Amino acid sequence: MNFSDSEIVASIITEKDYQTTDSPEGADIIFLNTCSIRDNAEQKVLNRLKHLQGLRKKNPNLILGVLGCMAERMKTSLLEESQTGLRLDMVVGPDAYRDLPQLLLDVETGQKAVNVILSAEETYADITPVRYASNGISAFISIMRGCENFCSYCVVPYTRGKERSRNPQSIISEAHDLLKAGYKEVTLLGQNVNSYHWEKGEEGWRFPGLLEAIANIDPNLRVRFATSHPKDMSDELLHTIANHPNICKAIHLPAQSGSSSVLKRMNRKYTRETYLNRINAIRRIIPGCAISTDIIAGFCGETTEEHLQTISLMKEVAFDFAFMFKYSERPGTPAEKKYEDDVPEKIKSDRLQEIINLQNQNSLKSNQSDVGQIFEVLVEGFSKKSKQAVSGRNSQNKMVVFPNEGFKPGDYVKVKVEDCSSATLLGKAISQ
Ligand code: 5AD
Ligand code: SF4
Repeated sequence: MNFSDSEIVASIITEKDYQTTDSPEGADIIFLNTCSIRDNAEQKVLNRLKHLQGLRKKNPNLILGVLGCMAERMKTSLLEESQTGLRLDMVVGPDAYRDLPQLLLDVETGQKAVNVILSAEETYADITPVRYASNGISAFISIMRGCENFCSYCVVPYTRGKERSRNPQSIISEAHDLLKAGYKEVTLLGQNVNSYHWEKGEEGWRFPGLLEAIANIDPNLRVRFATSHPKDMSDELLHTIANHPNICKAIHLPAQSGSSSVLKRMNRKYTRETYLNRINAIRRIIPGCAISTDIIAGFCGETTEEHLQTISLMKEVAFDFAFMFKYSERPGTPAEKKYEDDVPEKIKSDRLQEIINLQNQNSLKSNQSDVGQIFEVLVEGFSKKSKQAVSGRNSQNKMVVFPNEGFKPGDYVKVKVEDCSSATLLGKAISQ
């Protein structure tokens, strides 16, 4: 999400004769686009900001701004140097990026600039993102903003505001433009893409229809999406994925916990059983589909029994991949108000480690079962380790590395998998 927002910011700013640069040392303006989802994400930003203060010595006119979720959560308190030990010039929330040129003019006249107003409508639909850090092959398209699910642990509904969907025609035309510019893969992004909905007069759009419209643009344009909420993962959507070879067979379906009682405290609006029902539907309707998830260890009141339910869910589903976190209490969330953050740090760490160890085994097993199979891989570039090899992803979103036989980024190559680690498949191109 933040990556995609930074591309919108770059577009708004470069329209006004500012330019982007790769090095903070050479910059007159530095914006940090921030995330508040866990405390350690915020600590990282504060450290980075401390470090960046040093650049003021060389460039006294440097403008330093905080954008995004931390700006929204902390508002003007970020500008209070006595509290933060930081000298900042701008604080701009995720719905106020159009105001950046004016805010920059304010700062240039010596004022501090703040805009943290959230909007019920802003989707930046008409803005063409500047793909300044792109590989030229794969791009994100933001299709909706905000979230109103109010999972009890989560700060997003407060930092990114009301859920709103972007005009479908603007999404479709952005995908067309990317294809024309040589891109081969688009990822449709939103906090909860399954609840995409857009109405105007007689016209009504839901996510399966939008996904299909993007897939129909060109069979050589791959389509991915993230993130899905289990409560809205309909069979209709699964059939749409199954029916289009260019819609990637990889679904990210955050479980968060395997315990129905924890899920209730988390306000996730599904139980272990209904989650498993959706997993079974994926397996039935889209054979060979990869499934990944997010897991939180040590949520408020989590007992050993509840933790073991998460372990058992992970064993039962055998996720191909997972993002795994320790619960981090966020100020102002329902969990902070209602529940005690009472799982001791050491137990949280031990539970997280157990979850990570199990996932590493599951990822390895999942990759081992791919050995001997043939996949179509979209080449993204040289492998990190050697220029003699290239890497890219298969439809299941697994990274595949194979010897470079003159392949270029953007080529689709059929690769037979010969070996693997828990993170990567290794193979060899086969003649087409
Ligand atoms: N603590 C830990 N993890 C969190 N996430 C969201 N809020 C928190 C929190 N307070 C995780 C969830 C979500 C992912 C994006 O971040 O797993 O799916
Ligand atoms: Fe946060 Fe839940 Fe919304 Fe995801 S669905 S952004 S976890 S409130």
